[in-house]
Amino acid sequence: MSLISHLSALVGATFADLGLDPSLGAVVPSNRPELAQFQCNGAMAAAKAVGRPPREIAEDVARALDMATDLKSVDVAGPGFINLTLTDEALAAWAQSMADADRLGVDPVEEPLTVVVDYAGPNVAKAMHVGHLRATIIGDSLARLFDFVGHKVIRDPHFGDWGLQMGLVIAELERRHPDWPYFDPDFTGPYPEESPVTLDDLQEIYPVASARAKEDAEFAEAARRATVELQRKRPGYLALWQHMRAVSMEDQRANFSDLGVDFDIWHGESDVADMLEPLVERLRESGVAEESEGALIVRVDEPGDKKEIPPLILVNRAGGYLYSTTDVATIWYRSEQLGADLALYVVDARQADHFTQVFRAARRASVAGNMQMEHIAFGTMNGPDGKPFKTREGGVVSLRDLIEMVEKAAMARLDEAQIATDYPPEERQRIAHQVGIAALKFGDLHANRTSDYVFDLDRFSSFEGKTGPYLQYAAVRIRSLLRKAQERDLAEGAVLPPQVEAERNLVLELLQFPEAVWRAVDTRCPHHLAEYAYGLAGVFNRFYDACHVLSEPDADRQASWLTLCRLTLDTLVRSLYLLGIEVPERM
Ligand code: ARG
Repeated sequence: MSLISHLSALVGATFADLGLDPSLGAVVPSNRPELAQFQCNGAMAAAKAVGRPPREIAEDVARALDMATDLKSVDVAGPGFINLTLTDEALAAWAQSMADADRLGVDPVEEPLTVVVDYAGPNVAKAMHVGHLRATIIGDSLARLFDFVGHKVIRDPHFGDWGLQMGLVIAELERRHPDWPYFDPDFTGPYPEESPVTLDDLQEIYPVASARAKEDAEFAEAARRATVELQRKRPGYLALWQHMRAVSMEDQRANFSDLGVDFDIWHGESDVADMLEPLVERLRESGVAEESEGALIVRVDEPGDKKEIPPLILVNRAGGYLYSTTDVATIWYRSEQLGADLALYVVDARQADHFTQVFRAARRASVAGNMQMEHIAFGTMNGPDGKPFKTREGGVVSLRDLIEMVEKAAMARLDEAQIATDYPPEERQRIAHQVGIAALKFGDLHANRTSDYVFDLDRFSSFEGKTGPYLQYAAVRIRSLLRKAQERDLAEGAVLPPQVEAERNLVLELLQFPEAVWRAVDTRCPHHLAEYAYGLAGVFNRFYDACHVLSEPDADRQASWLTLCRLTLDTLVRSLYLLGIEVPERM
């Protein structure tokens, strides 16, 4: 149990003794640290419920709490705030138990859920671009957080590989190479083993095909037809599709690996291809789906809607399945085959209507079972001009280019700050990579996910301020301090009651790690943890200024401080890990 939940339970029990709801006892860090360490605001809420002045209730609670041995003081302030301060002995005991605990005091959930995290969402044939970046970074962090608190997490990128974009590319290739065996309906195989298209080809073809479809109605029709035939598994198309999928996937795997991101199942839309027909039949028979202008739709509008939610199109007029269709089928798959209890869709806020339609259709169709679904929406990563981030030439930046860009910026920062100057070049390169990715990820994660933010590489890559590199450097410095201690044969020892404010504050900050984790999990907002890590680094710096660990003459005090340093390092490294950020061994 964390310190704050312990205090909340303690105060809650006294509320209960007064015949009040124990949840009124919730304790939070004090707004006025000069008065107390913690506070409880429950008396104000209780006053409304029982019609007694809040101060009176607070005084009753405070009197009952006076008995508690861990508390140095309990006071009532203002209209009825209950202020609490722990004894230094109690703080030391709590810090010691955190140091001895396996998971820094974060207890795993009692009933683990199976949680699908659907994130990244790149499309086969289209290059992965910065639009998929936030989904990847936020989704990866949420997956790590849910896993850390004990849930069973299934990471799934949900590749876009079964929709119109495939038909567009196939139609364009057929236009250019009508002689290829893939397009000959009489060809009986076998098809070539080598892919006839490279990654560069794909990146060139998709934009051309998509532009052509906008101008040329006949071509657009051909692309829709090709999509339908692919979905019906016409052998030549399927063979060509397999090549394109493999080529794309290989590139994306490399990108993800550079970002330190991995998936448990590398599924795409096509993984539910065989469920589409049964899904449509089921919906048709149950009357949930209906014909409309040659298409098959599901109405999803509801009485309280503030804006119009158009019907979900299950099958279009050409007989093709759409992005929405595969999404509904994937819900069925996740609920039934994976036994998921919760699915988190980490996708751009601009797809909010899509997910409203899909979730409602899945419920109407009774394919979601008991699985909860949430759209974890996020804002846009903008350039300095306040518009979605682009290259100087105005094109979308590929993920590959972006990674190179942040690595270069990181290397320049290492040079400028004269960090790791005498290391072997490979190590330096590795550090630049880790620092660059940290700049990118922390820059993204420290912003509230629902807001837009400006990608400011100069600021994000700095070793000063609220940045990933600053936090990496803070952790590396503690690591090197501990290394020095080890060289001098100094061991870590029992945590002693803190004597100075900076030491006390460090202990208090460390003990709030579980709350930071839970806040991030409960709100699905990693920025709470990013904020915490930054706060912890600052509190540690003040501790280190005040407490000269390596030159402390009192050996027991020094050993206690070394334990606090180790605990800070572990907490910082763990926080960064949960944000998807690696800490270099040294720099
Ligand atoms: N491939 C989609 C896109 O690029 C994102 C997929 C998100 N996940 C989902 N289940 N729809 O927009």
